Amino acid sequence: MTRPVTAGATTATAPPDVVLRPGPVSVPAGRRRPAADGAAFGEVFTDHMVTVRWTAADGWHDAVLEPFAPLELSPATVGLHYGQSVFEGFKAYRRTADRAAVFRPLAHARRLAASARRLALPEVPAPLFVAATEALVRQDMDWIPEGDDRSLYLRPVLFASEAHLALRPARACLFVLIAFPTGNFFGADARAVTVAVAEDHVRAAPGGTGAAKCGGNYAGAYRAQEEAARRGADQVVWLDAVERRWVEELGGMNLFFVYGEGDRAELLTPPLTGTILPGVTRDALIVLARDLGLRVTEAPVALDRWREDCAAGRITEVFACGTAARVTSVGRVLGADGPWTVGDGRPGPVAGRLSAALAAVHRGEAADPYGWCHPVDRDPC
Ligand SMILES: Cc1ncc(COP(=O)(O)O)c(C=O)c1O
Repeated sequence: MTRPVTAGATTATAPPDVVLRPGPVSVPAGRRRPAADGAAFGEVFTDHMVTVRWTAADGWHDAVLEPFAPLELSPATVGLHYGQSVFEGFKAYRRTADRAAVFRPLAHARRLAASARRLALPEVPAPLFVAATEALVRQDMDWIPEGDDRSLYLRPVLFASEAHLALRPARACLFVLIAFPTGNFFGADARAVTVAVAEDHVRAAPGGTGAAKCGGNYAGAYRAQEEAARRGADQVVWLDAVERRWVEELGGMNLFFVYGEGDRAELLTPPLTGTILPGVTRDALIVLARDLGLRVTEAPVALDRWREDCAAGRITEVFACGTAARVTSVGRVLGADGPWTVGDGRPGPVAGRLSAALAAVHRGEAADPYGWCHPVDRDPC
């Protein structure tokens, strides 16, 4: 059964239902799966995945929840050659044995749609994105680990699956949703990370794909990430491509600068200029910080100012945020002219307060006035 959805439209007609295609899985249903402790990020996957096909002729169709398995692809698949591929990353948190809460699936559906538009891919309708999420989380609920900082990471990818090598957008695409249990991205210790400013490489230029979550942005960052790691840093700091002066974001996180302390602390974060990924965590922290009475300004931050304001003690903390690592303090910066320390080099109190506030929403321990948590209940047996 097919229900056409025009590429570029959000929801032309009702999306297809997600149908279970049973098959063998590694652990019998109902038994709690390992929390993947010790496994690297994205190494051990859950038992199932959702796949949905799109063709220009038939729109979105064949939405299937099936056992996790390799995909069969032609060597001429467009997504492999030309990088017509976008993805997302979001999380489900355990609430009880039979209930989970997915954090802001609609925000991630909207960002995937925006990324798809930029890459000339068809948009996955938000109801289909949410239905796929619910189906996978419900099916693999036993994989969701318990405990603070632990969750089920959901990874949707949408790519051009048509087999042709002409330089034009593909007329067949595949949406795949997989998941894996995860802990803290930077390990169990709540330490402040070291970041290195990218000197020779640029992540995104005006008019480019910086605001899209497309595979090429990450492949293009690997060399800089390797160099940063050789210098002893955890992440790369990207500067703007034109003046090489303005701080944009980290390799996989947005940045916040804290001026002052206590209730008088003020937050500054680079604006969404089109070259920065509009982080869902960034958006949530701006809201939570304002709710805590902290002033938040979105304004450009010069690299020189970062260094000078740290030296003068005006900047008291810097932290990064993202789905994978939640809120992570930056303790040290490796710049072209030498390193500098942020505050006392340790995780700061404002980062701690915001991290706790966000974790409380994730875990259902705080009110959710903005409706960010999307509950998913286990099917009654
Ligand atoms: C480049 C980049 N910036 C920022 C973020 C943070 O975004 P979010 O908070 O939506 O995970 C991510 C992670 O997705 C990222 O890859």
